[in-house]
Amino acid sequence: MALKPAFRGLALILAATAMTAQAQPAPSLVIHADRTGPLINRDIFGQFAEQLGNGIYGGVWVGPDSPVPNVRGIRSDVVEALRALHVPNVRWPGGCFADQYHWRNGIGPAGQRKVTTNINWGDPVEPNRFGTHEYLDFIDQIGSEANITANVGSGSVQEAADWLEYLTADKPTTLARERAANGHPAPWRIKYFAYGNESWGCGGPMSAAAYATRLRIYANFARNLNPAQNGWSRLMPGPDPMRRIAVGPADDRTDYTEAVMRAWQEASPRDKPFEALSFHHYTAGLVGSMREKAQGFGEADYAAFVKNSYAMDGLIATQSAIMDRYDPDRKVALSIDEWGVWLAPMPGTPVLYLRQQNSLRDAIVAALHLDIFARHAGRVRMANIAQMANVLQSMVLTDGPKMVLTPTYYVFRMYVPFQDARAIPVDAEAGDYHFGAVTLPRLDAIAARAKDGHIWLALTNIDPAQAVDIAADGAGFAARAATGEVLSAERIDTVNEFGKPAAVAPRPVRFTAHGGRLTLHLPARSITVVMLEP
Ligand code: AHR
Repeated sequence: MALKPAFRGLALILAATAMTAQAQPAPSLVIHADRTGPLINRDIFGQFAEQLGNGIYGGVWVGPDSPVPNVRGIRSDVVEALRALHVPNVRWPGGCFADQYHWRNGIGPAGQRKVTTNINWGDPVEPNRFGTHEYLDFIDQIGSEANITANVGSGSVQEAADWLEYLTADKPTTLARERAANGHPAPWRIKYFAYGNESWGCGGPMSAAAYATRLRIYANFARNLNPAQNGWSRLMPGPDPMRRIAVGPADDRTDYTEAVMRAWQEASPRDKPFEALSFHHYTAGLVGSMREKAQGFGEADYAAFVKNSYAMDGLIATQSAIMDRYDPDRKVALSIDEWGVWLAPMPGTPVLYLRQQNSLRDAIVAALHLDIFARHAGRVRMANIAQMANVLQSMVLTDGPKMVLTPTYYVFRMYVPFQDARAIPVDAEAGDYHFGAVTLPRLDAIAARAKDGHIWLALTNIDPAQAVDIAADGAGFAARAATGEVLSAERIDTVNEFGKPAAVAPRPVRFTAHGGRLTLHLPARSITVVMLEP
């Protein structure tokens, strides 16, 4: 195969040698290592932990007296698993729960906390045993950052302002002294603070105009009071101030994008009300959210899920185009703080606990989404998969003392090198995957230069039946080898279960060059993440 001089000095051409059954064009992957793309912000690998079902109770919190090993009530197996993901931030307490949550219910002596119900998620008793201190302890244990959503629906501006004072005041105010009396004298660092969730739906409902008005008032009064983080005033901001997130739309809705971005544009440069706009979109297949099979589905369902994953690309483009009109310099981040597959509940579990399995198919869906976010990294600088434990497309499933890592968990672990890496443009051509009316590129690929200078590739072969062999030719860049991991399984619907925890687990791969040529083997239905060795 002829070398293509695609990039000066440091470039790599990968060309697949395998011809498909339909004699499609010779596959090739050109990595433009001489071009610098945007930073892939590590916050796109964020998690979401709502007080919903067993997302917190059972999944994170077992209580200090539990026989499940824990530190101050937080289960140690989950902490250890999440530490390996380098989780950049955890969104809490919701979701819909956030707009019914009153933070004062979750502080103070455990036995004296108010007991409430969770009106959005089946009305279970909410003991408020997991509150502000427990959440921030959890964040600390997993080495992450706070991303707190305030109650804009049923709360008040003063309640949100008080919460931020309790969290961040460094002066001996009454609320700061109460925080100290409850065990935390020092102010916390709060990286993200959101003004509400889905205010057009469960967090309201409010019209876009009504929310935009309310947002400005919240932003004016609910402030971070820690000068070490936020500086001395809005005129003298600190180097790494708290970022505020405004409610944006879901799916193909645009009214919130227009109204909220207009509010941002109209504010004076020193008085902008937020730094990120939220966006939500869930993926389903042929039958729709909450009804899709988690296992035992056929290839038609699989193809629909993969096709629908790419809807995210168009939805981001639509939202970004609107944002560009108000904010051409891309100061405001698009925060995709709810995404993932929404399947049928696991048999025998309460419907509104949203407990579901996730399979190799869903791991592929996750990888495609992360690739899409990386391709939009100039605007998409945050994302939070829904959700972290036991809810929707989770990282872990727990049952009493048992815990299992899902296929999606492994995608997040394999993608760690892409956190804060610099995107490198890539042209991928490996033929098409066809099923029924669905035709999609067989290979999805991203490349990036990690902080340590190494080039990493993430290659997803969506074809459930056909492997791809890619011969790598370096133009000015002789890759001696590629090392990393591959995630695949016997079937596209294979899941990990307590009795069979490693049915979908990554295995190490190493490809070495022969005669100056490096060939990568990408199995059918697989995700491969490798580092190139120069
Ligand atoms: O993630 C589950 C729910 O989906 C969230 O609570 C809500 O924001 C969204 O509609």
